[in-house]
Amino acid sequence: METVLSGIRSTGNLHLGNYFGALKNFVRMQHDERCFFFIADYHSLTTHPDPGMLHVNVKSVLCEYLAAGLDPDVATIYVQSDVPEVAELSLLLGMHAFVGELERTASFKEKIRKHPDNVNIGLLSYPVLMAADILQHRATRVPVGKDQEQHLELTRRFARRFNQLYGVDYFPECQPYRFGGELVKIPGLDGSGKMGKSEGNGIYLSDTDEAIRKKVMKAVTDSGPTAPDSPMPEVIANLFTLLKVVSSPDTVQFFTDKWNRCEIRYGDLKKQLAEDIIRVVAPIRERIRDIAADEAYLARVVKQGAEKARASASATVADVRRIMGIKPF
Ligand code: TRP
Repeated sequence: METVLSGIRSTGNLHLGNYFGALKNFVRMQHDERCFFFIADYHSLTTHPDPGMLHVNVKSVLCEYLAAGLDPDVATIYVQSDVPEVAELSLLLGMHAFVGELERTASFKEKIRKHPDNVNIGLLSYPVLMAADILQHRATRVPVGKDQEQHLELTRRFARRFNQLYGVDYFPECQPYRFGGELVKIPGLDGSGKMGKSEGNGIYLSDTDEAIRKKVMKAVTDSGPTAPDSPMPEVIANLFTLLKVVSSPDTVQFFTDKWNRCEIRYGDLKKQLAEDIIRVVAPIRERIRDIAADEAYLARVVKQGAEKARASASATVADVRRIMGIKPF
């Protein structure tokens, strides 16, 4: 069995791309592997230090995870800042992380380009804290997108360096977790690229039916096919990608035939797509609302998660202290 760890920064609501891209796979995976799912609120402080919103954002990701089907009795679901051991491990790992290699990471370079007025230590040591997240549980698999692969590479480097320096075989080298053929890339509704938070083209798990209808009806299309069986431009193919994810095979076939015969009416396609998205999102949205209202339940969930995560992390920190020569009198 692998130890899998997934972290998400608490900077906003989850959209259909998160749901079909990763969450659904997590829900399946939690029964097969030793899984940790955590909300990286320390990390979100590097760019979004907003005391009024931090807890709100952590809570919304937590509710959305639970509503989507992550089970706190099966997996370990926790908030990063509930596990202070990670801060100590980050401090210890930082002794062997070089400023030069941290300055060279793409994410750091991008941040200093975008926010030259806020080049803080937290940004520089972001990958060290992330390595601590992973190594505290000695995770072997980490599901991440392309943008995080360099951070995983650094985590492996820190693990190797630690093992070599102290002559131990302690930290495993974590590999990215790939969902294989099951990973669906969800496109945005603006005609190009994938659905994303920063792109502002997303349908959120918390969206109302009306909001979903509006967004789908506004999706970018073209002037229609000009000849039978013509190839689909990207904007239209994107709508079909969504349709394949949320609608029945019959519906997909119906609109594909319409397209091939040049009889497609985008208004009809969008109406159907909106209703089928609503069928997926509405029950999740209702569960999010119920869970969010149940403060006692949420408190139990994070407490239980923190206990399990701290048990795992404190064992690691004790080992690392000993390996590095910190000894009790
Ligand atoms: N850096 C990740 C992101 O922005 C979030 C994250 C923090 C993470 N710690 C992690 C992901 C550990 C995986 C493992 O998406």
